[in-house]
Amino acid sequence: MHLSRLSLQDFRNYKQLDLSLERGLYLFYGDNAQGKTNLLEAVAMLATASSFHASSDREVVNWSSPEHIARIEGTVTRHEDAIDIEIFIFDPTPPAIPSTNGAAPPQEPAVTLPLPANTPRKRFKVNSIPRRTMDMIGQMKVVLFAPTDLHLVDGSPDERRRFLDRALCQVQPRYCQAILKYRKIVTQRSALLKRIRDHQEDPGMLSYLDEQVTMLANQIIYERQLMVNALNQQAVVFQKSISGGSEQLQIVYRPSFKVDEAWNTTEAQQHYLKQLQAVRKKEIMQGVCLLGPHRDDLEFLVNGVNMLNYGSRGQQRTAALATKLAELTYMRASTGDEPVLLLDDVFSELDHARREYLLNQVLQHEQVFLTATDLTEFTPEILRQAHSYHVTHGELQMQTQ
Ligand SMILES: Nc1ncnc2c1ncn2[C@@H]1O[C@H](COP(=O)(O)OP(=O)(O)O)[C@@H](O)[C@H]1O
Ligand SMILES: [Mg+2]
Repeated sequence: MHLSRLSLQDFRNYKQLDLSLERGLYLFYGDNAQGKTNLLEAVAMLATASSFHASSDREVVNWSSPEHIARIEGTVTRHEDAIDIEIFIFDPTPPAIPSTNGAAPPQEPAVTLPLPANTPRKRFKVNSIPRRTMDMIGQMKVVLFAPTDLHLVDGSPDERRRFLDRALCQVQPRYCQAILKYRKIVTQRSALLKRIRDHQEDPGMLSYLDEQVTMLANQIIYERQLMVNALNQQAVVFQKSISGGSEQLQIVYRPSFKVDEAWNTTEAQQHYLKQLQAVRKKEIMQGVCLLGPHRDDLEFLVNGVNMLNYGSRGQQRTAALATKLAELTYMRASTGDEPVLLLDDVFSELDHARREYLLNQVLQHEQVFLTATDLTEFTPEILRQAHSYHVTHGELQMQTQ
């Protein structure tokens, strides 16, 4: 699939953008803070419905948007079909607009719109028909390589869980539903544990939430395990090829409690409940949920050695790259769609050999968006086949070679 049109209104620092796109490689280059990442963020939102780097989606609304609304519209061409996706993001309480000339920001708060409290913050349309988030996610598929992805191996466990969720949500809307519900229940359960600790609630109240949590957790863990199995088949090939044949990569799924692939659903649920009971005292004392997919992790072994503790920087980068490339293959294999590839500023952290490898891999894809601070990183041959755009202050200017 590829994006054949992108239009933005009041999205981050883009007041208005209308872009026609084709298959192939797109290079967006320009100085820092000009809007390169913002552009990829908008494209990714068409696939995942939420931002990959905002802590709250309403951050994407342009600070001076008169209606406090950002709009992203994209046409996705898939086989012979075209799908039109629209997202509206509403920010009722925008921050005070920072001044552009370095002077102190205005003292008066920005205008707050007098809209009802329950006005939805995000709305979606697919082919002009309003849709729920769940029905909109996955219409378009993207794989994003951000600088943080190069830290998949040596970064925080949180990052590794996000990696799994981002891919699985696009592949299976029901996974997305399960994970959202699960997070909500974990929050409720933690609050309940605190109330039990403070003697405001009876421990018996836990059984309902325990049942919910174990049911959802099993579903999530099962899907994550399947994905890791699939990733392993490909990642090993990429790692070997990047390292010149010497490195054998294995990705190990590490749930926060004992799971056995041989258990059926009922057995898995019972085992989980038992393990929950074993940590009950500790959970009540700490007031947090200690076991479950929100505590899962991944381990990366190269020739049997754990890369988190013992990998060289180069090996860690290679394993991250191999895993991300495996994600791409996984997405394609499990959906039959070629995802749109987004590479945000990843080349600066890679050495020459790994950069070349990655470029050669991604060039085989239907559509690739790549950002960089300048074009000197690319060979004349790449530049000849790419569509290049210079990004300044939220505006794009096409460059002809
Ligand atoms: N909601 C917003 N409204 C207006 N401008 C924004 C908003 N959010 C971020 N920006 C601006 O976008 C710029 C950063 O864009 P970004 O895409 O991250 O840059 P880069 O080109 O370095 O990737 C900054 O100048 C920031 O002030
Ligand atoms: Mg950037």
